[in-house]
Amino acid sequence: MTAIVRETEGCGAEIANIAVPKATDAEINLIRDTVYNRGVAFLHDQHLTPEEQIAFAERIGPIVLNRYFPKTERYPQIAKVEKTEEQKTNIGGGWHTDHSYDQAPAMGSVLLAIETPPTGGDTQFANMYAAYEALSDGLKATLSGLKARHASEHIYGMEGVYGKTDQAHLAGHAENPWAVHPAVITHPGSGRKALYVNPAFTLGFEGWSREESAALLGYLYQHAIKPEFVHRFQWKPGSMAIWDNRATWHLAMNDYQGQRRLMHRITIAGGPLH
Ligand code: SIN
Repeated sequence: MTAIVRETEGCGAEIANIAVPKATDAEINLIRDTVYNRGVAFLHDQHLTPEEQIAFAERIGPIVLNRYFPKTERYPQIAKVEKTEEQKTNIGGGWHTDHSYDQAPAMGSVLLAIETPPTGGDTQFANMYAAYEALSDGLKATLSGLKARHASEHIYGMEGVYGKTDQAHLAGHAENPWAVHPAVITHPGSGRKALYVNPAFTLGFEGWSREESAALLGYLYQHAIKPEFVHRFQWKPGSMAIWDNRATWHLAMNDYQGQRRLMHRITIAGGPLH
């Protein structure tokens, strides 16, 4: 079997004909290159055991633990992204880039669908290479000198937004890092420039007032989710997405009230961004 890579419109690529537990080194390199260049790789029919998911993630890169997400009972490397039949709020229901509040943000995640609702529960991914490339030369020049501040406290801290929801276990944390990163980064794997601000964790530009930052960020946020930069991925049990936080945003749709959705997420370490 030869692996087949088919680019999905807007963002990402589907990879077929790979059985992840038996992947060769060449296939792992193909997956990693696809993630670096298309922002996210989608695979189906990967009914992995926790050990197999951990072993696969370690071949993509070193695993790092998310501070806030609940862990699976036996495997601290695997976080549970869960919404039960009774809960109204889902996890990751707004556009975001994971871990941008860290000095060395995570490279990405390996998300495996364990239980999916009969309909709904898709995840949208937005392509930050394409969003950047479509900006005017004038705005690219302005952004090239800017750094933005990112933080987690307003989401996961003592007064964090999850605290007022039925996912309250995600808030109330005392450790709330913040970081400053360039507004446009050069992806360490592809060498391409990508927009690196996001609606969930970016507070504003260094040296700009809150109002000035809000005006430009507001423009960038509506620009970055134009349909031509976005792919909506439909999950089945055994579907897997491997995404790159340096090249994408994502948003988990919350359109399956009364149904259960359970995903197993492993986060891959990254590094400082330039
Ligand atoms: C996340 O933001 O990590 C969750 C994505 C999803 O559940 O689809």
